[in-house]
Amino acid sequence: MTAMREGTPRIVRREDYAPPAYWIDTVDLTFDLDPAKTRVLNRMRVRRNPDVPAQPLRLDGEELNLARVLVNGQGASFRIDGSQLVLEALPEGPEPFELEIFTTCAPEKNTQLMGLYVSQGTFFTQCEAEGFRRITYFLDRPDVMATYTVTLRADKKRYPVLLSNGNLVESGELDGGRHYAKWVDPHRKPCYLFALVAGDLVCRSQPIVSRHGTEHLLQIYVRPADLDKTEHAMQSLMAAIAWDETRFGLPLDLERFMVVATGDFNMGAMENKGLNIFNTKYVLANPATATDTDYANIESVVAHEYFHNWTGNRVTCRDWFQLSLKEGLTVFRDQEFSQDMAGSPSARAVKRIEDVRVLRTVQFPEDAGPMAHPVRPDQYAEINNFYTVTVYEKGAEVVRMMQTLVGRDGFARGLKLYFERHDGQAVTCDDFAQAMADANPDSELARRLPQFKRWYSQAGTPRVHARGHYDAEARTYTLTLRQSCPPTPGQPVKEPFVIPVAMGLLDAQGRALPQTERLVVLHEPQTTLVFEGLDAAPVPSLLRGFSAPVILEHDLSDDELRTLLAHDTDPFNRWEAGQQLALRRALAAVRADGPVHDPLDAPFLEAMRAVLRHPTLDAAFKELVLTLPAETYIAEQLDAVDPQRIHAVREAMRRQLAHALHEDWIWAYEQHKDNGAYRPDPVSAGRRALAGLALQMLCLAARDNGNPVWPGKTYQRFKDATNMTDRYAALSALVTAGHELAARALEQFHARFRDEELVLDKWFALQAGAPDRGGDALPRVQALLQHPDFHLRNPNRARSLIHTYCHANPAGFHRADGAGYAFWRDRVLELDAFNPQVAARLARALDRWKKLAEPYRSAAQAALQAVAAHEPLSTDVREVVTRALA
Ligand code: ARG
Ligand code: ZN
Repeated sequence: MTAMREGTPRIVRREDYAPPAYWIDTVDLTFDLDPAKTRVLNRMRVRRNPDVPAQPLRLDGEELNLARVLVNGQGASFRIDGSQLVLEALPEGPEPFELEIFTTCAPEKNTQLMGLYVSQGTFFTQCEAEGFRRITYFLDRPDVMATYTVTLRADKKRYPVLLSNGNLVESGELDGGRHYAKWVDPHRKPCYLFALVAGDLVCRSQPIVSRHGTEHLLQIYVRPADLDKTEHAMQSLMAAIAWDETRFGLPLDLERFMVVATGDFNMGAMENKGLNIFNTKYVLANPATATDTDYANIESVVAHEYFHNWTGNRVTCRDWFQLSLKEGLTVFRDQEFSQDMAGSPSARAVKRIEDVRVLRTVQFPEDAGPMAHPVRPDQYAEINNFYTVTVYEKGAEVVRMMQTLVGRDGFARGLKLYFERHDGQAVTCDDFAQAMADANPDSELARRLPQFKRWYSQAGTPRVHARGHYDAEARTYTLTLRQSCPPTPGQPVKEPFVIPVAMGLLDAQGRALPQTERLVVLHEPQTTLVFEGLDAAPVPSLLRGFSAPVILEHDLSDDELRTLLAHDTDPFNRWEAGQQLALRRALAAVRADGPVHDPLDAPFLEAMRAVLRHPTLDAAFKELVLTLPAETYIAEQLDAVDPQRIHAVREAMRRQLAHALHEDWIWAYEQHKDNGAYRPDPVSAGRRALAGLALQMLCLAARDNGNPVWPGKTYQRFKDATNMTDRYAALSALVTAGHELAARALEQFHARFRDEELVLDKWFALQAGAPDRGGDALPRVQALLQHPDFHLRNPNRARSLIHTYCHANPAGFHRADGAGYAFWRDRVLELDAFNPQVAARLARALDRWKKLAEPYRSAAQAALQAVAAHEPLSTDVREVVTRALA
């Protein structure tokens, strides 16, 4: 396998970028599709890049069998150098020449799911980032853009549907039961956006007319049994198209826009021009099989891939270091879309809180660990390791800060200028920031652009330290804000960032103080603000809406935090105040000596009760406030992490909430359990979420008092539920509480959904993530590994069991005997032998091993060393474990 290399992998550096020595203007591909041996005829029109000194043409290729190379129709001399095909004696001068390359490959043996592969009898491709080289020899880099003509030939019975990018221009019969289809994509594109699909699929079709009167055909292709699960994805696609036209004036530029779903996919989805390929998880939904979370994810991923058509495809990346140019921007766009779809200010805030929760529980740890890298990385061994929460989610925060600094209209102007300048080009993050600044010359962004761009070049989460002082005599309030950023690998010293801090002041009763709302833009290490004419000490509400991706350190008292929780006009900070109160209690209990008991005090519980019973707050918001900070988030605040202790503390807090608010949970459940016919809108989803949390709490309380009433009701609800959200919530309440009815419910759930792959993934994941009781999580996971429905080769299934256990069940995974790490080591190596990308994601479960207390730390280190010492090892996994051990 070519992905397996011995020794130190080659490091690719951003500063080494050089333009290509040749351009490829047109590509004409003919595929004879056969799972065992697919023939690929690649005819390119190539010319020398006049701006670069003459040199040989070096084409990338991987796992290809080369049969023929012709230059202008004549046999050409070539050599193979490592994985490259090198052509030296090419025609001189600027004239284009024809290069014809004939290769074969074996899609059915492609277990990495990069390039051309077979999933359940259907051919699919995945080319981003460097998969096209596994299909044919090519200049596999995003700054080489060509127009593509693609002819697909295959057996008609087995592969009745033949799809590629662009427009279908011809199709017909061939001898021997075969047929063909010819597709032409009029848009120039980099090869990572190439795609083909061939198989026995059906589609939901939807003709639409745009605001400008142009007609388009939208299609979603799935296996015949899944056609009843495509309506929501189609609705989401239509909404996304309309939104991009209205908000940014960006229309659909294709006659035909296709989405195809596959059950075997390494990531979420892929924005191939006009032919998006999706993981089934982000397409298929009906009320019986998908939860509210699935519905929301589908809406945002369908939109995300669609938005890439402009931000990614029309304007693409010059090199892979610029990945956030398209990903950060497109995540920002899909987040804004979901907020606009959510509608009410409070539903928007819920979406914002959910996004920030992901950032803080996943990206902040990444930015503080061995894999920390700037939003625009400086180097990589394997680019697939850099499709990270930093490039995506932190990248989106950087774009969001730009919008905050230039305003919503200014941002739309900046995007317009960006397309005017760069449509059809492969550009850099600098080009994007420059367009934003140039379109808003009087903005704080334009004034401080070079400094603002440190968000692209410096890794690590900045800290903003706030100290307030009230002077009663002078009636002034002085607020001092200091910023700093810890060192990260390769970056020992950081320069100050430009940090927009949205803020306001409240009085002690929680009323907003007039004229104190503002956007403070920090750019110096320290900034002091003075507010005048105040009759009493105010309560500051800082970093409203999470206006910058930083850690805010303040010295607010519990009373002040409770004031914010009860009264702040900013819903984000209301939620955040509740999280801070909970976090303080969790940390105090974790740090205390002796057995854990009752970390929560009466004032905290009363504040939570007040939120739960609040007459006007939305159910979705209440559910977020009443959910305690995650164990991994608590762990990040500590220097020596004992995952067992953290788990014990958080569980003790949950049980206190369950008992102290018992009557309130019953009330909440009864008030929110009935929502009529299933609709996935945010209001009814929020009600279901709160009812689900109430059931969790009621089952948890029942565990202690032995009262069978609520587990019984929960089990009944599990059986009677009319949608997956309610059914799964009831099942999960029983499983999480460890109730004896859980086993029976799990069995029934399996029997009922044995033919629904995505539901079985939930079934595995629920058990893999269930709280550890006396070390029972690992044996449970090991048993499930032997289950006839467990398939290691299917990425979704592997992730549902193995990744869930290693990444999302800290107390089950971090065992004092190190058995969780040994399990991790064995699964990483097992996966790495056939799918390095999936293995490398799993490998990252031990990123934070240096923070662990003993005996975890040494056991984790030993497991990492064992993986690092293994031969062979993919570049992907090698990079992750080498950085972890460094
Ligand atoms: N561009 C895809 C997206 O929309 C993801 C592709 C990920 N590719 C990879 N090799 N990891 O986010
Ligand atoms: Zn993307």
